[in-house]
Amino acid sequence: MGTSQPTQIIILGGSGDLAKRKLIPALIDLYTHDKLPDTFSIVGLARTPRTSKEYEQFVADALTKHEHGHSMTTVKDFCSHFSYVSGSFDNTESYQELKKHIEAFDAEKGMCTNKLFYLAVPPQYYKTIFNNIHESGLADTCADGSWARVLVEKPFGSDLNTAQELDGVLSSLFTEDQIFRIDHYLAKEAVQNILSFRFANTLLRSPWNREHVESVHITMHESIDIQGRGSFYDNIGALRDVGQNHLLQLLALIAMDEPKSFTAGDIRTKRIEVLECLVPMDSDTVQTQVQRAQYQGYTQEKGVAEDSQTETFFRFTAQLSLPQWEGVPFHVEAGKALSKRKVVIEIHFKDVASGPFETQTCHTKGNMVTLTLSPEQAMSITLNAKKPGHGYQLESQTLSFTCRKDKQEGIDAYEKVLLDCITGDQTLFTKTEEVLASWKFITSILQNWHNIPLETYTQGGDGPSL
Ligand code: BG6
Repeated sequence: MGTSQPTQIIILGGSGDLAKRKLIPALIDLYTHDKLPDTFSIVGLARTPRTSKEYEQFVADALTKHEHGHSMTTVKDFCSHFSYVSGSFDNTESYQELKKHIEAFDAEKGMCTNKLFYLAVPPQYYKTIFNNIHESGLADTCADGSWARVLVEKPFGSDLNTAQELDGVLSSLFTEDQIFRIDHYLAKEAVQNILSFRFANTLLRSPWNREHVESVHITMHESIDIQGRGSFYDNIGALRDVGQNHLLQLLALIAMDEPKSFTAGDIRTKRIEVLECLVPMDSDTVQTQVQRAQYQGYTQEKGVAEDSQTETFFRFTAQLSLPQWEGVPFHVEAGKALSKRKVVIEIHFKDVASGPFETQTCHTKGNMVTLTLSPEQAMSITLNAKKPGHGYQLESQTLSFTCRKDKQEGIDAYEKVLLDCITGDQTLFTKTEEVLASWKFITSILQNWHNIPLETYTQGGDGPSL
């Protein structure tokens, strides 16, 4: 890659689920595509006592489970870049150990290396870790242009207050250009494509507003259940897990105005404008516009409380106080253990309101643009066309095409996240204003969360009925 500055990637939570399932596979892909710095080292920090050699084996095993498709030699070479420090996140001595470990690499290279700290840990550790990284001097940089950056996973906080508090801690210890708040949805090819569809096609640019759009539907259905992540998930629930972040980011990309340029600053500014205009819900609106539900059998999952009231499904209708979207409902829903995986955005356009087609016999149907983000990337437009035969009847016809199957030709979201952090591009990361604006809206729902009934739904079904 284009950097000769050696870089150390430190994964806090180096043996956790995220490291195994997402980070290690993404790192080997970057490695084989020659996208990592010429000289790099990856250090895992976790509680389990093990040697660096044992950690190399752990990494190799994680890759085997992932069916990575790389040769044994490649895996062996890649694993030789890993080392391990055992320690706990709240013990200051662990950070001193870690410091010694990464300074040894600096000394070996005879220079100050870049440091990327990836917090692959449950959110309750964030504050402690930020403070400890700072206090121990781990993120101190030298005057030679090397950098230290922190990558933080969502959910960032659990409501507006905790997010503000966390943000206060983070911004008192690091500068904004050192902080990379991850929303891996933003890094997906299919999600980035939303802006190309919207702004690179005249056909779609003009009618994209309240004058023509009837409603927007953003749906994220997963067929998987919580996959053994009970102790994490039960404290969070679907709304905080994917609603506050992934789905509101999709909404922002659908509703935002055209940015002046595709720079991080311009795109983030436009996303923020939308998120700050989400209309908070009062208790009456929550009663009528929000649903929450849990799949049957959830409370028997490992790590889940027997009497858990945590939702695995939610549905809400959001409104924006932006003139171009006023009155247009944004229906948002997500859930686990459903019949099939689908991440889809539908834009329903209004019926033609006047002219010869506004008669009984030639009744038109509103057009619809569907952007499918997963399991494949596809797009379709439903149009009205003349029904063949005598007379003048209309029928709906759908034009559709598949851009690509999942992962085909595209770069994996976690590869993109890691690469952009290494190169310092913050476009696909969320800014503090975005995080706080989305929490403000979600918190207005959470404040009345327990006043709405928790419905149940069968696994493998379509979720609770509307
Ligand atoms: C994560 C959530 O952020 O996104 C998971 O924590 C969810 O619960 C996942 O399964 C979905 O991501 P993707 O990329 O598989 O759509």
